[in-house]
Amino acid sequence: MDIKLLNFDIKGDERGSLIALEEYRNIPFEIKRVYYIFDTKEGVVRGKHAHKNLQQVLICVKGSCKILLDNGKERKVITLDSPDKGLYIGSFVWREMYDFSPDCVLMVLADKYYDEEDYIRDYKEFLKLAK
Ligand code: TYD
Repeated sequence: MDIKLLNFDIKGDERGSLIALEEYRNIPFEIKRVYYIFDTKEGVVRGKHAHKNLQQVLICVKGSCKILLDNGKERKVITLDSPDKGLYIGSFVWREMYDFSPDCVLMVLADKYYDEEDYIRDYKEFLKLAK
């Protein structure tokens, strides 16, 4: 499955903590877009899609959530619960985000601008394309 867990260095001192994200250094692509998901209501499942050609890194900068990942052959669940953890997701990986804590802020870095044409939103179509 085209996913990878990333661990970011924390620059900490007596004032607190800081993490820096830099393209081609600790983020393995050019960062074209950043969006974040917050105020997610209880019980909500987001995502439910895959991409044809998109790389993303998901970082839970506050709170926690779970990510179900599926490449058509196997499924994995990753919990994101720390701002020093990143989840890289490549193309043709179905993802569902759920179990958001009320304070969760899930930040996503992407290597392309938003393009609805790049989405696969139908799971049966995903299974055909993922073969
Ligand atoms: P949606 O794809 O439903 O989010 P998720 O997959 O996380 O559940 O996106 C919600 C809305 O936001 C939808 O109208 C499309 C819009 N959107 C953008 O305009 N730009 C973006 O970068 C993203 C990810 C979504």
